[in-house]
Parts: sequence; structure tokens; C-alpha cells
Amino acid sequence: MTRVLVLNGPNLGRLGSREPEVYGDQDLSALRVQLGEAAPEGVEIDVRQTDDEGELIGWLHEAVDTASPVILNPAAFTHYSYGLRDAAAMVTKAGLPLVEVHLSNPHAREEFRHRSVVSGVATGVIAGFGFDSYLLALDAVARRLPPEPA
Ligand code: DQA
Repeated sequence: MTRVLVLNGPNLGRLGSREPEVYGDQDLSALRVQLGEAAPEGVEIDVRQTDDEGELIGWLHEAVDTASPVILNPAAFTHYSYGLRDAAAMVTKAGLPLVEVHLSNPHAREEFRHRSVVSGVATGVIAGFGFDSYLLALDAVARRLPPEPA
């Protein structure tokens, strides 16, 4: 069984009520259900959210220690957290996939959102597709998993 950590940064606990015209009207528990339904056999989904940078970094350390692939929406930390970038680099340097995701397309928004300090160490980036960004990321992660023993 492979556990995929789906980690969400600050303010994403407010999904559903926060700027629904940008982020949609569904909350994190709806995301949990959709990812759970889409998970291939042998893959367990663990969706978490925190507003705390240290906690998010700790979860990336946990991903390394437990060899768990990561789908990461760093939210506002995307744009300035070098601590988060360094922790994300540990994940990919350990040979684990880490997909950076965004609900919105940050490049179509304010200038400060155009820079990601995380993208340079991520395996790949998917942005602009709402919850589908996460579902596409799950597909990309699943394609990179070692085959299940027969
Ligand atoms: C976001 C984009 C970020 O710029 C923003 O700070 C967020 C959400 C997204 O998913 O579109 O909180 O990561």
C-alpha cells in the first residue's frame, strides 16, 4: 500500500467559502472524497491542511521518512517560503514524486503570484483546473509508482 500525502497550505481550510469565484464552492472534505474515489488500487490518500509553515515542513520530512509521494498545494507559501522549498527538495532528492498543484492559475493573477519558489524543486506543476489539478496530479503520481508485486 502506498500512501500519497496531499498537503495543503494556509487558508485552504476555508475552501468552499473563500473567494468561491476563484477557488470553487467545494470544501476540503469534498476533495478528500473525490481523491479517494479516484485512487487506484494499492494507493491510500491522506489529505491534510495547515496554516502553519512549520507543520507543513514537518509533513514533508514525514514524506521522506515514510517514502510517501506528495501532492502539495503550498498556497501563499508558494511565493516566498524558502524553508518549504528546501523541505520539498528533500522529497524529490529522495526520488519521490512531488507535484505542486494550484486550484487557480497563479500566472493569470496578481504579479506576486507569478513566482513560485517551490516549482524549481518539484517533479512537476499543475495549475488552473480546480479540483482537477489534484486529480491530474494523482494520475501523474500513480504513473510513477513502482508496479505492485503480482
Ligand atoms: C493557490 C494560489 C496561491 O497564490 C494562493 O495564495 C492560494 C491558493 C491556488 O490553489 O490557486 O492560497 O495556491
